[in-house]
Formats: sequence, structure tokens, C-alpha cells
Amino acid sequence: MESTPAAVSAPELTKVPTHIAIIMDGNGRWARQRGLPRLAGHRAGTENLRRIIRACVEFNIKYLTIYAFSTENWGRPEEEVNGLMAILEEVIDKELDELHREGVRLQHIGRLERLNPTLVEKVKYAVELTRDNDRLILNIAWNYGGRDEIVCAIRKMIEDGIRPEEVTDELVSRYLFTAGIPDPDLIIRTSGEMRISNFLIWQAAYAEWYVTPTLWPDFDREELLKALVDYSRRERRFGRLPTDECCSEV
Ligand code: FPP
Repeated sequence: MESTPAAVSAPELTKVPTHIAIIMDGNGRWARQRGLPRLAGHRAGTENLRRIIRACVEFNIKYLTIYAFSTENWGRPEEEVNGLMAILEEVIDKELDELHREGVRLQHIGRLERLNPTLVEKVKYAVELTRDNDRLILNIAWNYGGRDEIVCAIRKMIEDGIRPEEVTDELVSRYLFTAGIPDPDLIIRTSGEMRISNFLIWQAAYAEWYVTPTLWPDFDREELLKALVDYSRRERRFGRLPTDECCSEV
């Protein structure tokens, strides 16, 4: 019989990331394992997102960014694309009031072009309604791609007449969809794939990565806690030396 890993408790967290970003992968496999259509996996993934939002509030995470629909996902079958769009619309219709009451601020990163006008209006309404909330900032990456984001930023800088000598790390960050959002401290990818998949490719420069074989619909509060405990044991160096070697002579 397999032993169940001991439940981890929140007090073990010595250091909590300000910003967690998640690649919510494995919905399709979760559904296939149960003989269900792929959309059933996305629905289970959506229910799980609700649990993870609550857990982030509980653990005092300030920013959560989720990769929900990439610029490449348009290449999936029409039924799946439409199903995902319908899920987003449903979430806004059914969950927005409660998220607002819980103090969650919704932000969108990516391009609203190509989404149907009703959905665009709903996304804008959700962003506007929750703009003063600050318990958790939830960034939904929808029709988002990291390369597309950088291309948009370069175009905008050119339009604004930015001179080459004015281009700095900070300036580029201010032109990205994530302007004003701190870089992610921890990026979690579920379902075991070791890829960045065009997610936050600029912002991830010094993020810590946590990859788990658990499929997204099964990545619950306990799994998040394990990722947070793992993160709290890491020493972030940002290219510098470990603290204990910091000031010795070269
Ligand atoms: C990746 O799993 C998941 C997606 C492409 C969609 C994620 C979207 C949701 C959880 C929907 C809810 C989001 C919001 C904001 C309402 P996959 O389909 O690639 O899984 P597979 O690799 O096992 O096939």
C-alpha cells in the first residue's frame, strides 16, 4: 500500500512568495484518464482554480497569475476553443460577485482582440469592478503569449518615439502587459512538463520553478502548500554568491 505523505501545515512557511504564476497543465490528461471529454477536464480545472484562489488568500499571496489561454491555444479544435471561451464567460457571470466580496482584483494580461465582443465587455467590466481590491491580485493570462507581449511592447515603444539610449530593463517592463506587477517569485507547472511554453518569458528571468507531476485538477491546497514549503527552503541568489560567501576575498 502506498503511504500518504504527511500533511504540511502553513506554519512551516518561513518565506512566502509575493507573486506566484501557474501553468495549469494536465486538464486533458485528467479527463482522458476518466474517459471524459477534454472540456470536462477544463471544467474540473476551473473548479480547482477556485480552491487555489482561496488558498492563495489564506497564505497571504499578493499576486497570482494563471496561464489560462495562450496565443497558441487558438490552434486547438474549434469545440475546445469555444468551450474555453464559454468557461471564462461563465466564471465571470457566476463567480465575479463573490470574488469581488473576497477582495480579489481581476486583471487581464494578453490581447482582447479576437475574443467575442460580449466576452470583451465582461472582462472589462470585471477588471473595472474589482480595480480597488487588494487582497489578491489575480492576473488572468488569456490570449496571452510572451513573444507577442514583447512584440507589442516594441511596437508601442517605437510609436511613442522612445530613443535607443532610453531603452532599459525598467522601461521594457513598463511596456509589457504586466506593467506595475512585480516579476513572479515562483512559477508552478503542473503535469510534469519541463517547458516555459511562451509564458512570462521576460518576467521569469529570476523566478524559482516548481514542477510537479500532479495534473492541474488535482493540484489542491496541500499540493500548493508543498510548493510553498519547497520555495521557502530555497536561497534566491539573482546571479550573486550565496550569503555566506558574499564578502570573502576573491
Ligand atoms: C492546459 O491543459 C490547460 C489549458 C490550455 C486551459 C486552462 C484553462 C482553465 C483551467 C480554464 C479556466 C480558466 C479561467 C480563468 C476561467 P491541457 O489541455 O493542455 O492538458 P493536457 O496537456 O493534459 O492535454
